[in-house]
Amino acid sequence: MKVILVTGSTRGIGKETIRQLARLGHHTILTGRNEKHVTDVQDDLGGEGVITDACQLDVRDDKSIAAAVKFIADRHGKLDVLVNNAGIFLDESGAPGDIQVIRDTFETNVLGPYRVIQAFLPLLKKSGDGRIINLSSGMGGLTEMNGGYPGYRISKTALNAVTRIFANDLAGDKIRVNSVCPGWVKTDMGGDRATREVEKGAETIVWLATADDIPNGKFLRDKKEIPW
Ligand SMILES: NC(=O)c1ccc[n+]([C@@H]2O[C@H](COP(=O)([O-])OP(=O)(O)OC[C@H]3O[C@@H](n4cnc5c(N)ncnc54)[C@H](OP(=O)(O)O)[C@@H]3O)[C@@H](O)[C@H]2O)c1
Repeated sequence: MKVILVTGSTRGIGKETIRQLARLGHHTILTGRNEKHVTDVQDDLGGEGVITDACQLDVRDDKSIAAAVKFIADRHGKLDVLVNNAGIFLDESGAPGDIQVIRDTFETNVLGPYRVIQAFLPLLKKSGDGRIINLSSGMGGLTEMNGGYPGYRISKTALNAVTRIFANDLAGDKIRVNSVCPGWVKTDMGGDRATREVEKGAETIVWLATADDIPNGKFLRDKKEIPW
């Protein structure tokens, strides 16, 4: 059974990913920026019979990340799978956004995963089969790129670059790094009109976390490679 941490797993796709992986028997760590919220969601899942560990982790806060690294080092001494799921969508309309929105989005969606990867590297290197799964979006794919929502789009394009860089740099450490587009999913971010249920949104993430035969350095939707 693997030790798996999911950032931003207090709701949406992250929470569902914890639910599915914990039900498969993996040792999951639910995380979020608000400690009370994290404990409440852990209790909710416990009520469904889903047992998960939990700790506070704000991807914008180095001290919080360091405390989460210590929490896992003390309990497990390694991390097998890091799911960089935490993300924000601040652009209010399709119109060109202001620089502050782009900067703020970048801080969470790009520098957040970058910081978290760097901090957890020593524990991921101890896995022997480490995996990093970055929650990207087709909206960040250059091939599918349309206008509007620049903060979100640019952040996910840059996150895909983070995937490519670490996939190359960490191949020698037996750590595979991939980007996932979950599709348009009914969550607080995706909204009610989205076409996919959250169970489907988590499917490719769970597969990348657990299957033996997975790729490295790819952008995937529905377990298949899609263009960058
Ligand atoms: N839904 C879609 O259609 C869709 C499509 C493509 C890609 N994605 C990507 O999939 C991921 C999950 O999306 P979702 O739809 O589940 O979004 P969501 O329902 O809005 O949930 C986002 C999660 O990220 C957390 N978060 C935000 N800032 C954080 C921070 N600084 N530190 C730690 N956690 C933080 C939130 O925590 P709080 O509760 O504290 O706010 C929340 O748990 C995102 O990266 C998103 O971009 C979603």
